[in-house]
Amino acid sequence: MFVPPTPTLRRDGNSLIVLDQTALPWRSEERRLATLEETAEAITAMRVRGAPLIGVVAAHGVALALAAETPDDAALDRALAVLRSTRPTAVNLAWALARMRTRLRPLPLAARREAAWAEAAAILDEDAATCAAIGAHGLALLRALPRRAGRTLRVMTHCNAGRLATAGAGTALAPIYAAHAAGIAIEVYVSETRPRNQGLLTAWELAAAGIDHILIADSAAGWLLARGEADVVIVGADRIAANGDTVNKVGTYLKALAARASGIPFHVAAPISSFDADAANGEAIPIEERAAEEVLAIAGLDSGGRPRRLRLAPENARAANPAFDITPAALVSSFITEHGAVTAARLGALPRGAATAIH
Ligand code: MRU
Repeated sequence: MFVPPTPTLRRDGNSLIVLDQTALPWRSEERRLATLEETAEAITAMRVRGAPLIGVVAAHGVALALAAETPDDAALDRALAVLRSTRPTAVNLAWALARMRTRLRPLPLAARREAAWAEAAAILDEDAATCAAIGAHGLALLRALPRRAGRTLRVMTHCNAGRLATAGAGTALAPIYAAHAAGIAIEVYVSETRPRNQGLLTAWELAAAGIDHILIADSAAGWLLARGEADVVIVGADRIAANGDTVNKVGTYLKALAARASGIPFHVAAPISSFDADAANGEAIPIEERAAEEVLAIAGLDSGGRPRRLRLAPENARAANPAFDITPAALVSSFITEHGAVTAARLGALPRGAATAIH
């Protein structure tokens, strides 16, 4: 299995060191999170991002909060509320916080600090194992794809659902890493994913792993799929409703439509912690609306290699910025989970997901 050259996060005493994803792909910078507020800011500002990683970091945020004050119920509830309010869509956040509450509430105060660190570490370790299992199940699907002999396998993905979004090899990218490790010739179409350009993060981590990839504008995906340039589409998920409707990074829905119209399989790779049994369908899931500024301006390096923000849009332009969209279950070929790949009709056979989450 692929071993990341830079970990997304690690504990350092009573603080957490994370890779600051707002500096990527240009600079690899770590950031120390020492307080509840710094952890909440890191999630809100997308220094850490991706559904599973947000859950892992939030769990550590609870431990940080309890390390800083008397770990009574009031301190615990405040930490849970502050972290829960950071981002609304990825249910892994609510799932991880609910798990921390369930573990810590019954304990005497003297036992809570150590237990909080231990539970956060367990969530992290389990996420890495979950990613590996998703990779193995996804690899079986990739091996079963009809392909012309000797042709490179071409996978299209969206956003970043790799090691930067998890504590392991990723969700959508885990089968790609597994295929690469198995010696399968593979190439990845990486869509830019405006406005936050998480596709650049995917390109960055695939380059680090030595996996061939081609960056495309989001608007190129439909044409490439129509021409049969990709054998399969694999994306991650931020929350999956009980009926299989899938909320993921905005632009996912268009890829699913194009894949269906082109007869190309479209898979969603996600852990059980991304399934929300309390949401009957996609309409029940809150879609985060982020600042218009993210659409109106763009970040990059100037010719001297200095980071710059540039305004793209005309003065007074208005912008809408939904961060996610809903792909109807009917467009999903299968859900690749740590328990195997299932169709929407078989979702009920999976273990229950984040149904007890703090919504
Ligand atoms: O807004 P982000 O960057 O946190 O959104 C991330 C995504 O939408 C990913 O595709 C999703 O979380 C799956 S991550 C394994």
